[in-house]
Amino acid sequence: MAERRRRLENKVAIVAGAGSSGPGIGNGRATSALFAREGASVLLVDSEVERAEETLAMIAAEGGTASALGADVTRADECERMVESALERYGRLDVLVNVVGILAFDSVVDVSEETWDRLMEVNVKSVVLASKFAIPRMVEGGGGSIINVSSIAGLRAYSATPYTTSKAAINGLTMSMAYDHGRDNIRVNAIAPGAVYTPMVAGLLSHRQREKRREASMLGTEGTGWDVGWAAVYLASDESRWVTGTILTVDAGITGKVPTLL
Ligand SMILES: NC(=O)c1ccc[n+]([C@@H]2O[C@H](COP(=O)([O-])OP(=O)(O)OC[C@H]3O[C@@H](n4cnc5c(N)ncnc54)[C@H](O)[C@@H]3O)[C@@H](O)[C@H]2O)c1
Repeated sequence: MAERRRRLENKVAIVAGAGSSGPGIGNGRATSALFAREGASVLLVDSEVERAEETLAMIAAEGGTASALGADVTRADECERMVESALERYGRLDVLVNVVGILAFDSVVDVSEETWDRLMEVNVKSVVLASKFAIPRMVEGGGGSIINVSSIAGLRAYSATPYTTSKAAINGLTMSMAYDHGRDNIRVNAIAPGAVYTPMVAGLLSHRQREKRREASMLGTEGTGWDVGWAAVYLASDESRWVTGTILTVDAGITGKVPTLL
Protein backbone atom coordinates (compact mmCIF):
# COMPACT_ATOMS: atom_id res chain seq x y z
CA MET A 1 0.00 0.00 0.00
CA ALA A 2 1.25 3.55 -0.79
CA GLU A 3 2.47 5.57 2.17
CA ARG A 4 -0.07 8.09 3.53
CA ARG A 5 0.59 11.69 2.45
CA ARG A 6 1.27 13.78 5.54
CA ARG A 7 -1.23 16.57 6.02
CA LEU A 8 1.22 19.44 6.64
CA GLU A 9 4.04 18.37 4.32
CA ASN A 10 6.25 21.35 3.26
CA LYS A 11 4.51 23.78 5.61
CA VAL A 12 6.35 25.99 8.09
CA ALA A 13 4.56 26.73 11.36
CA ILE A 14 5.14 28.87 14.42
CA VAL A 15 3.53 27.66 17.65
CA ALA A 16 3.58 30.51 20.19
CA GLY A 17 3.26 28.86 23.60
CA ALA A 18 4.77 25.54 22.51
CA GLY A 19 5.76 24.47 26.02
CA SER A 20 3.63 23.22 28.88
CA SER A 21 3.34 25.01 32.21
CA GLY A 22 3.68 21.72 34.09
CA PRO A 23 4.67 18.11 33.48
CA GLY A 24 2.59 16.55 30.71
CA ILE A 25 1.02 17.60 27.45
CA GLY A 26 -0.75 20.94 27.07
CA ASN A 27 -2.49 22.34 24.01
CA GLY A 28 0.65 23.95 22.63
CA ARG A 29 2.85 20.91 23.12
CA ALA A 30 0.31 18.53 21.56
CA THR A 31 -0.25 20.87 18.60
CA SER A 32 3.51 21.13 18.01
CA ALA A 33 4.03 17.36 18.16
CA LEU A 34 1.13 16.62 15.78
CA PHE A 35 2.28 19.32 13.32
CA ALA A 36 5.74 17.72 13.19
CA ARG A 37 4.24 14.23 12.77
CA GLU A 38 2.20 15.59 9.85
CA GLY A 39 5.35 16.88 8.13
CA ALA A 40 5.54 20.57 9.14
CA SER A 41 8.75 22.32 10.18
CA VAL A 42 7.84 23.86 13.52
CA LEU A 43 9.32 26.87 15.34
CA LEU A 44 8.58 26.20 19.01
CA VAL A 45 8.26 29.53 20.81
CA ASP A 46 7.95 30.04 24.54
CA SER A 47 8.95 32.77 26.99
CA GLU A 48 10.39 29.94 29.13
CA VAL A 49 12.68 28.47 26.50
CA GLU A 50 13.34 25.27 28.46
CA ARG A 51 9.64 24.42 28.12
CA ALA A 52 9.91 24.72 24.33
CA GLU A 53 13.09 22.61 24.50
CA GLU A 54 11.15 19.82 26.25
CA THR A 55 8.68 19.84 23.36
CA LEU A 56 11.63 19.84 20.95
CA ALA A 57 13.10 16.75 22.64
CA MET A 58 9.79 14.94 22.17
CA ILE A 59 9.64 15.87 18.46
CA ALA A 60 13.33 15.09 17.85
CA ALA A 61 12.86 11.61 19.37
CA GLU A 62 10.19 10.98 16.74
CA GLY A 63 12.40 12.26 13.90
CA GLY A 64 10.42 15.47 13.29
CA THR A 65 11.74 18.86 12.17
CA ALA A 66 11.57 21.61 14.78
CA SER A 67 13.65 24.10 16.75
CA ALA A 68 13.11 26.14 19.90
CA LEU A 69 13.13 29.90 20.41
CA GLY A 70 12.78 31.90 23.62
CA ALA A 71 10.52 34.92 23.02
CA ASP A 72 7.90 36.89 24.94
CA VAL A 73 4.96 37.44 22.57
CA THR A 74 3.63 40.38 24.58
CA ARG A 75 6.50 42.42 23.07
CA ALA A 76 6.48 43.70 19.48
CA ASP A 77 10.26 43.38 18.99
CA GLU A 78 10.15 39.75 20.17
CA CYS A 79 7.24 38.95 17.84
CA GLU A 80 9.16 40.41 14.91
CA ARG A 81 12.22 38.35 15.87
CA MET A 82 10.02 35.24 16.13
CA VAL A 83 8.63 35.67 12.60
CA GLU A 84 12.03 36.49 11.10
CA SER A 85 13.53 33.44 12.83
CA ALA A 86 10.99 31.19 11.11
CA LEU A 87 11.96 32.71 7.75
CA GLU A 88 15.70 32.39 8.48
CA ARG A 89 15.46 28.80 9.70
CA TYR A 90 12.88 27.38 7.29
CA GLY A 91 12.55 29.86 4.39
CA ARG A 92 8.83 30.68 4.59
CA LEU A 93 5.86 30.95 6.94
CA ASP A 94 2.51 29.21 6.39
CA VAL A 95 0.95 28.77 9.83
CA LEU A 96 0.84 30.71 13.10
CA VAL A 97 -0.79 29.18 16.18
CA ASN A 98 -1.38 31.59 19.06
CA VAL A 99 -1.70 29.31 22.09
CA VAL A 100 -0.34 31.54 24.86
CA GLY A 101 -2.91 32.20 27.56
CA ILE A 102 -3.23 32.65 31.32
CA LEU A 103 -6.16 32.43 33.73
CA ALA A 104 -7.69 34.79 36.32
CA PHE A 105 -10.91 34.09 38.20
CA ASP A 106 -11.74 37.53 39.65
CA SER A 107 -15.03 39.42 39.29
CA VAL A 108 -15.02 43.07 38.17
CA VAL A 109 -15.30 44.05 41.84
CA ASP A 110 -12.33 41.97 42.93
CA VAL A 111 -9.96 42.28 40.00
CA SER A 112 -6.91 44.51 40.35
CA GLU A 113 -5.93 46.79 37.48
CA GLU A 114 -2.64 44.93 37.32
CA THR A 115 -4.34 41.54 36.81
CA TRP A 116 -6.74 42.99 34.24
CA ASP A 117 -3.95 44.61 32.22
CA ARG A 118 -1.81 41.47 32.39
CA LEU A 119 -4.64 39.24 31.10
CA MET A 120 -5.31 41.57 28.17
CA GLU A 121 -1.62 41.81 27.41
CA VAL A 122 -0.83 38.07 27.50
CA ASN A 123 -4.08 36.74 26.05
CA VAL A 124 -5.08 39.43 23.52
CA LYS A 125 -2.22 41.78 22.69
CA SER A 126 0.04 38.79 21.97
CA VAL A 127 -2.32 37.65 19.20
CA VAL A 128 -2.33 41.13 17.66
CA LEU A 129 1.46 41.50 17.75
CA ALA A 130 2.30 37.99 16.52
CA SER A 131 -0.19 38.34 13.65
CA LYS A 132 0.99 41.86 12.79
CA PHE A 133 4.41 40.54 11.82
CA ALA A 134 3.31 37.12 10.52
CA ILE A 135 0.67 38.25 8.01
CA PRO A 136 2.92 40.27 5.65
CA ARG A 137 5.37 37.34 5.48
CA MET A 138 2.54 34.88 4.81
CA VAL A 139 1.22 37.15 2.04
CA GLU A 140 4.68 37.13 0.42
CA GLY A 141 4.47 33.34 0.33
CA GLY A 142 0.96 33.27 -1.21
CA GLY A 143 -1.18 32.95 1.94
CA GLY A 144 -1.40 31.25 5.29
CA SER A 145 -3.45 30.06 8.25
CA ILE A 146 -3.65 31.69 11.68
CA ILE A 147 -5.17 29.69 14.52
CA ASN A 148 -6.04 31.43 17.78
CA VAL A 149 -6.63 29.30 20.86
CA SER A 150 -9.69 30.79 22.53
CA SER A 151 -11.99 29.01 25.03
CA ILE A 152 -15.64 28.15 25.53
CA ALA A 153 -15.26 30.73 28.34
CA GLY A 154 -15.36 33.34 25.55
CA LEU A 155 -18.73 32.02 24.34
CA ARG A 156 -20.65 31.37 27.57
CA ALA A 157 -20.83 32.80 31.09
CA TYR A 158 -17.98 31.68 33.32
CA SER A 159 -16.90 32.99 36.70
CA ALA A 160 -13.54 34.30 35.48
CA THR A 161 -14.31 37.76 34.12
CA PRO A 162 -10.85 38.84 32.91
CA TYR A 163 -10.32 35.47 31.22
CA THR A 164 -13.80 35.37 29.65
CA THR A 165 -13.38 38.91 28.35
CA SER A 166 -9.96 38.14 26.88
CA LYS A 167 -11.26 35.04 25.10
CA ALA A 168 -14.32 36.90 23.74
CA ALA A 169 -11.85 39.51 22.43
CA ILE A 170 -9.88 36.74 20.69
CA ASN A 171 -13.10 35.59 19.00
CA GLY A 172 -13.72 39.15 17.77
CA LEU A 173 -10.13 39.49 16.61
CA THR A 174 -10.39 36.19 14.75
CA MET A 175 -13.46 37.31 12.80
CA SER A 176 -12.05 40.77 12.00
CA MET A 177 -8.65 39.47 10.94
CA ALA A 178 -10.35 36.87 8.71
CA TYR A 179 -12.37 39.67 7.07
CA ASP A 180 -9.42 42.04 6.62
CA HIS A 181 -7.01 39.50 5.15
CA GLY A 182 -9.21 36.96 3.36
CA ARG A 183 -8.46 38.36 -0.10
CA ASP A 184 -4.76 37.80 0.58
CA ASN A 185 -5.53 34.12 1.13
CA ILE A 186 -4.93 34.42 4.87
CA ARG A 187 -7.39 32.24 6.80
CA VAL A 188 -7.98 33.04 10.46
CA ASN A 189 -9.86 30.68 12.76
CA ALA A 190 -10.17 30.09 16.48
CA ILE A 191 -10.39 26.88 18.49
CA ALA A 192 -12.53 27.12 21.62
CA PRO A 193 -11.50 24.22 23.85
CA GLY A 194 -13.83 23.05 26.58
CA ALA A 195 -12.73 21.48 29.83
CA VAL A 196 -9.62 19.74 28.52
CA TYR A 197 -7.29 18.25 31.10
CA THR A 198 -3.89 19.89 30.65
CA PRO A 199 -1.02 20.93 32.94
CA MET A 200 -2.56 24.44 33.01
CA VAL A 201 -5.57 23.18 35.02
CA ALA A 202 -4.19 19.98 36.58
CA GLY A 203 -2.95 21.76 39.71
CA LEU A 204 -6.26 23.60 40.19
CA LEU A 205 -8.68 20.66 40.17
CA SER A 206 -9.63 18.12 42.83
CA HIS A 207 -10.56 14.61 41.65
CA ARG A 208 -14.24 15.48 42.22
CA GLN A 209 -14.03 18.66 40.14
CA ARG A 210 -12.27 16.77 37.38
CA GLU A 211 -15.09 14.18 37.33
CA LYS A 212 -17.76 16.91 37.34
CA ARG A 213 -16.19 18.53 34.29
CA ARG A 214 -16.14 15.21 32.46
CA GLU A 215 -19.74 14.39 33.39
CA ALA A 216 -21.04 17.81 32.30
CA SER A 217 -20.44 17.24 28.57
CA MET A 218 -22.64 15.37 26.06
CA LEU A 219 -20.00 12.72 25.43
CA GLY A 220 -19.12 12.26 29.10
CA THR A 221 -15.45 11.75 28.24
CA GLU A 222 -12.43 13.84 29.18
CA GLY A 223 -10.56 15.89 26.56
CA THR A 224 -6.81 16.46 26.36
CA GLY A 225 -4.38 18.70 24.54
CA TRP A 226 -4.34 16.14 21.72
CA ASP A 227 -8.00 16.92 20.90
CA VAL A 228 -7.10 20.59 20.52
CA GLY A 229 -4.00 19.63 18.52
CA TRP A 230 -5.99 17.59 15.98
CA ALA A 231 -8.37 20.52 15.42
CA ALA A 232 -5.31 22.70 14.81
CA VAL A 233 -3.94 20.19 12.27
CA TYR A 234 -7.20 20.46 10.31
CA LEU A 235 -7.22 24.28 10.40
CA ALA A 236 -3.53 24.46 9.43
CA SER A 237 -3.92 22.03 6.51
CA ASP A 238 -5.26 22.64 3.02
CA GLU A 239 -8.24 20.44 3.96
CA SER A 240 -9.71 23.61 5.52
CA ARG A 241 -8.89 25.85 2.54
CA TRP A 242 -12.51 27.15 2.45
CA VAL A 243 -12.85 27.70 6.20
CA THR A 244 -12.17 31.12 7.74
CA GLY A 245 -13.57 33.36 10.47
CA THR A 246 -14.94 30.40 12.39
CA ILE A 247 -14.76 29.49 16.08
CA LEU A 248 -14.47 25.74 16.34
CA THR A 249 -15.63 24.36 19.69
CA VAL A 250 -13.70 21.28 20.84
CA ASP A 251 -15.66 20.55 23.99
CA ALA A 252 -17.45 17.15 23.91
CA GLY A 253 -20.67 19.12 23.28
CA ILE A 254 -20.80 21.03 26.55
CA THR A 255 -21.73 24.39 24.97
CA GLY A 256 -24.47 22.77 22.89
CA LYS A 257 -26.29 21.34 25.88
CA VAL A 258 -29.25 22.44 27.98
CA PRO A 259 -28.07 21.96 31.58
CA THR A 260 -29.60 18.85 33.12
CA LEU A 261 -32.54 19.89 35.28
CA LEU A 262 -33.70 16.48 36.52
N1 LIG B 1 -6.63 23.65 29.73
C1 LIG B 1 -7.87 24.02 29.54
O1 LIG B 1 -8.83 23.52 30.16
C2 LIG B 1 -8.15 25.09 28.52
C3 LIG B 1 -9.47 25.30 28.13
C4 LIG B 1 -9.74 26.28 27.19
C5 LIG B 1 -8.71 27.03 26.65
N2 LIG B 1 -7.44 26.82 27.03
C6 LIG B 1 -6.40 27.67 26.43
O2 LIG B 1 -5.32 26.89 25.96
C7 LIG B 1 -4.13 27.70 25.98
C8 LIG B 1 -3.02 27.10 26.81
O3 LIG B 1 -2.92 25.77 26.65
P1 LIG B 1 -1.77 24.92 27.29
O4 LIG B 1 -2.43 23.81 27.97
O5 LIG B 1 -0.73 24.60 26.26
O6 LIG B 1 -1.14 25.93 28.42
P2 LIG B 1 0.19 25.90 29.17
O7 LIG B 1 0.06 26.93 30.25
O8 LIG B 1 0.60 24.51 29.56
O9 LIG B 1 1.23 26.41 28.06
C9 LIG B 1 1.29 27.73 27.64
C10 LIG B 1 2.73 28.09 27.39
O10 LIG B 1 2.76 29.48 27.03
C11 LIG B 1 3.93 30.05 27.57
N3 LIG B 1 3.76 31.49 27.70
C12 LIG B 1 3.06 32.16 28.65
N4 LIG B 1 3.18 33.49 28.44
C13 LIG B 1 3.97 33.64 27.35
C14 LIG B 1 4.46 34.77 26.65
N5 LIG B 1 4.15 36.01 27.03
N6 LIG B 1 5.24 34.58 25.55
C15 LIG B 1 5.55 33.32 25.15
N7 LIG B 1 5.13 32.20 25.79
C16 LIG B 1 4.35 32.37 26.88
C17 LIG B 1 4.10 29.34 28.92
O11 LIG B 1 5.44 29.41 29.38
C18 LIG B 1 3.64 27.93 28.63
O12 LIG B 1 4.70 27.06 28.34
C19 LIG B 1 -4.49 29.00 26.63
O13 LIG B 1 -4.74 29.99 25.65
C20 LIG B 1 -5.75 28.63 27.40
O14 LIG B 1 -6.54 29.75 27.69
C21 LIG B 1 -7.13 25.86 27.96
